[in-house]
Amino acid sequence: MNETLNILDKRRSVRSFLEKEITPEDAKAIKIATLRAPTAGNMTLYSVIEVTDQKEKETLATLCDDQPMIAKAPMVWIFLADMQKWVNYFQEGGSKAKGEQKNLAAWRNPGLGDLHLCLQDAIIAAQTSVIAAESLGIGSCYIGDILENFEQVKTVLNLSSYTIPACMVVFGYKKNQQEIKLTPRCLEESIFMENQYQELHLDQLEAAFSPLEKQRRATNSLPFDNTGSIADYYYFKKHTSDFMEEMNRSTAVMFDHWTKA
Ligand SMILES: Cc1cc2nc3c(=O)[nH]c(=O)nc-3n(C[C@H](O)[C@H](O)[C@H](O)COP(=O)(O)O)c2cc1C
Repeated sequence: MNETLNILDKRRSVRSFLEKEITPEDAKAIKIATLRAPTAGNMTLYSVIEVTDQKEKETLATLCDDQPMIAKAPMVWIFLADMQKWVNYFQEGGSKAKGEQKNLAAWRNPGLGDLHLCLQDAIIAAQTSVIAAESLGIGSCYIGDILENFEQVKTVLNLSSYTIPACMVVFGYKKNQQEIKLTPRCLEESIFMENQYQELHLDQLEAAFSPLEKQRRATNSLPFDNTGSIADYYYFKKHTSDFMEEMNRSTAVMFDHWTKA
């Protein structure tokens, strides 16, 4: 295995960090690597907000389903889908006016296709930063709950019409680099499909998620006194949870904020 594959193979989410600031050299190296991520048409349809203000970190920790690790993390980055920069550039730079004066193109507001590309750019940049950090001994964890409470998050981050959070990542130096306990993964054949989508049903699903079920059974963490399935676990813990309901509500508001601006 080469060094890159080795880094990918050993990565796991880290939620507790050394109390040590990320050095400016390491932060710079992660930024340079992140900037090398591909973006749609090389338009760089994303921005990154680095949260350095401790009070803001604490507010976000609360808004993101009360996860104190966010407030304790040395580096907190929020990756935004960002079409606002191009809206401003097209308008302030005169492209919109030229289109109208020369009858070349009518103005259109960014739509869902633009949003999809912006989200892709932001998430690809995020994962690039995660791997760059990992190569420097810096662990990280995505925070999905940045999708919650959009109204407040929007105010805290001062978001414009065509900017929405794609994802959030917290970073910090790992406490013990020797201790790497990897989480299980689904079977390869349940993920990679040839030519067309193959819908999975019960037998295949049970096989696909069996490594996850086995691990949870061994740690006594399945519902119904550990007799339930991995499907039961995710159904009750995630799918029917209050936070998932909030994420769905908040994301609908977020997408409206973009499409109805
Ligand atoms: C989109 C996304 C959102 C996530 N949100 C959270 C989160 O809010 N809190 C948390 O502790 N971990 C979060 N994680 C980390 C996952 O729980 C973790 O990636 C998963 O359990 C697999 O473990 P591993 O990354 O250690 O291999 C998130 C991961 C992703 C990709």
